[in-house]
Amino acid sequence: MTHNGRLLARAREALEEERRINQAEQQRRTDLIYREIPETEQIDRQMRRQMSELVRLTLSKPADLSERLEALREDNLDLQIRRAELLTEHGYPIDYLDEIFSCKLCRDTGNVNGALCSCMEKRYNRELTRELSGLLHDGEESFERFDLSLYPDTPEETSGISPRSAMSIVFQACRSFAESFPDVSANLLLRGSTGLGKTYLSACIAQKVAEKGFSVCYDTAVSALEAFEKQKFSRIPEEAENAALRVDRMLSCDLMILDDLGTEMVTPASVSALYTLINTRLSRGKQTVINTNCSDEELQRRYTPQITSRLFGEYLELPFYGSDIRLLIKN
Ligand SMILES: Nc1ncnc2c1ncn2[C@@H]1O[C@H](COP(=O)(O)OP(=O)(O)OP(=O)(O)O)[C@@H](O)[C@H]1O
Ligand SMILES: [Mg+2]
Ligand SMILES: [Zn+2]
Repeated sequence: MTHNGRLLARAREALEEERRINQAEQQRRTDLIYREIPETEQIDRQMRRQMSELVRLTLSKPADLSERLEALREDNLDLQIRRAELLTEHGYPIDYLDEIFSCKLCRDTGNVNGALCSCMEKRYNRELTRELSGLLHDGEESFERFDLSLYPDTPEETSGISPRSAMSIVFQACRSFAESFPDVSANLLLRGSTGLGKTYLSACIAQKVAEKGFSVCYDTAVSALEAFEKQKFSRIPEEAENAALRVDRMLSCDLMILDDLGTEMVTPASVSALYTLINTRLSRGKQTVINTNCSDEELQRRYTPQITSRLFGEYLELPFYGSDIRLLIKN
């Protein structure tokens, strides 16, 4: 099966699961109401009898069919009104016992007029990101688990800044970015030396944004920019095609996370690919999070003014402080 087909199948399974949950919830409500207001159960039984009566009548076609149908309709209406009254009298909404749908558009069929419903696209994106979260350590990373105590509370000698208080601001900026997504005005540039939690925090962002049903792509600069080159230059058709799919996803996904910018080899092709990625996403109004160890000067040395002016102008820089957490955790 193709990549797409597999994810779509998982999205359909997710829909099935939601349906089961909704049906169980409806059953729970029915049991509850029948116990609390026994008259509703009698009404439901009566209404079911009316349904079979309706079928019987339309099949047997008696002479006075229309009068009897009319009488049936009126009885049914009375029952519906009585049932609604009972529910509201006991403090329940009128539709409390109705069938429950996660999506009103497709009534949980997944399709609208033969096309995939938008709720299926959301499920598909969620599956896409679940795959991505495997890449980011099985979805271990979350804002709830982010540990501020890993950052020293004593001011750094050179800057006089307490890493913990600086990182608390970085943390809040990342969380509010993810929570407000896609209503965010800037892109993010997470910057700092190795082992300070840039990848960790961007994984938290990815997790949260994907949970909300947006498509998220994660890749390192090395591998992302390589895909651009393979798309253009690979002699193996299948490889070129795969690369083209990946590039397309990187350009069009709702959130792109480009990790470790500055670790890739600088070539005219990689710089041009980076420009395409940054510029295309900006012009499409799609958000990007970039992680790097590079200072402004290093960025300027590596890339073109077209790239750095976009990074400095359109990205909110979040500087990371502290000392290598990898070493801390090891000891
Ligand atoms: N706030 C945190 N709470 C718990 N664990 C953390 C936190 N920040 C980082 N870690 C852990 O510390 C290690 C280093 O973090 P991370 O990989 O995010 O650093 P980085 O800034 O991306 O480094 P590099 O520049 O080398 O890529 C990882 O194992 C990560 O899981
Ligand atoms: Mg990293
Ligand atoms: Zn739907």
